[in-house]
Amino acid sequence: MAGSQYGTIFRISTWGESHGKALGVVIDGCPAGLPLKEQDFEDYMGRRRPNAGKFSTKRNEPDQVQILSGTFEGRTTGTPISLIIWNQDQRSHDYADLADKYRPGHADFGFDAKYGFRDYRGGGRSSGRETVGRVAAGALASKILKELGISFDTRATAIGGHPFKEAEPYLDQCRAEGDSCGSEVNCLIHGVPAGIGDPVFDKLDARLGQAIFSIGAVKSLDIGDGSLVSQAKGSENNDAFGLKNGRIAPLTNHAGGILGGISTGADIRLHVYFKPTPSISLRQDTVTKDGKETKISIHGRHDPVIGPRAAVVVESMAAITILDAMMINMTARLSSIKDFYR
Ligand SMILES: Cc1cc2nc3c(=O)[nH]c(=O)nc-3n(C[C@H](O)[C@H](O)[C@H](O)COP(=O)(O)O)c2cc1C
Repeated sequence: MAGSQYGTIFRISTWGESHGKALGVVIDGCPAGLPLKEQDFEDYMGRRRPNAGKFSTKRNEPDQVQILSGTFEGRTTGTPISLIIWNQDQRSHDYADLADKYRPGHADFGFDAKYGFRDYRGGGRSSGRETVGRVAAGALASKILKELGISFDTRATAIGGHPFKEAEPYLDQCRAEGDSCGSEVNCLIHGVPAGIGDPVFDKLDARLGQAIFSIGAVKSLDIGDGSLVSQAKGSENNDAFGLKNGRIAPLTNHAGGILGGISTGADIRLHVYFKPTPSISLRQDTVTKDGKETKISIHGRHDPVIGPRAAVVVESMAAITILDAMMINMTARLSSIKDFYR
């Protein structure tokens, strides 16, 4: 399957299926000398786990990351880092009914159209569980970014149009009806220096777009003021420049920290919109693989809403993208190369 690799210098390859033996990621391009142990992944993996009660699936996996390669005596060696997460709580029989029916809103039909057959257990590679590998790589990327003074504030902000903290009754109602709902996630990236990102095809906003849209169920992304800019006047939308702590900086941040594809030094502001979870137990119309009209009602364990668990996936993909762009940036000036080799 093409399309499972991301990044240029800090490069990840994720692998594995929802109901296969294990999932994981191979990370190439991580510098040598970073202290790294298996506990370093726990915080990120914990944020992705189904632990938010009503807000998440009942699938319960410890999601412990094992380091298979790339470290020696507790530090990275500069060689590929291979991380594995074993699947332990599979119930493939939950999915037997889906073997030849297409779930509305899910990837089943597209996979069959492309490959001719598919791993229907939990959606295979199109499962939300695929994101464990990205989150493990994201934990590593943000550990490096932390050493460079870059931090994240990422959280689910809305569920079905309701502010996150007031959404529980709405979510209860969706659940009781066998339905699901959409959600929003906000990600603020603080401390990215000015000058990161490449013009034209590798603009930082374009690369963040690829990273965020690669996450299942993401349907829209705002950078800075996002779609609202189409309603603004130039005088309102432009961020005037001034001096902040003696440095040139935009004094407001409608742009969301990026101009011309290159960071301005202001906070990078992302707002991500997730569609409702496709797998719902309400009866829906569908067809079988051989074209018979039928009904489908999806059981098994599904998140009633995706944003709360996916917030850390957004942060992980953003961290991988920023770190990779910073590594690429190290060759942007002859003087930097000369300084390095002098
Ligand atoms: C963290 C996460 C968890 C998800 N959980 C589920 C789920 O429990 N059930 C489901 O049907 N889809 C779930 N999804 C969404 C599907 O993976 C996604 O909708 C599907 O692959 C179709 O792709 P698309 O929505 O990007 O077009 C989840 C996605 C993410 C990122």
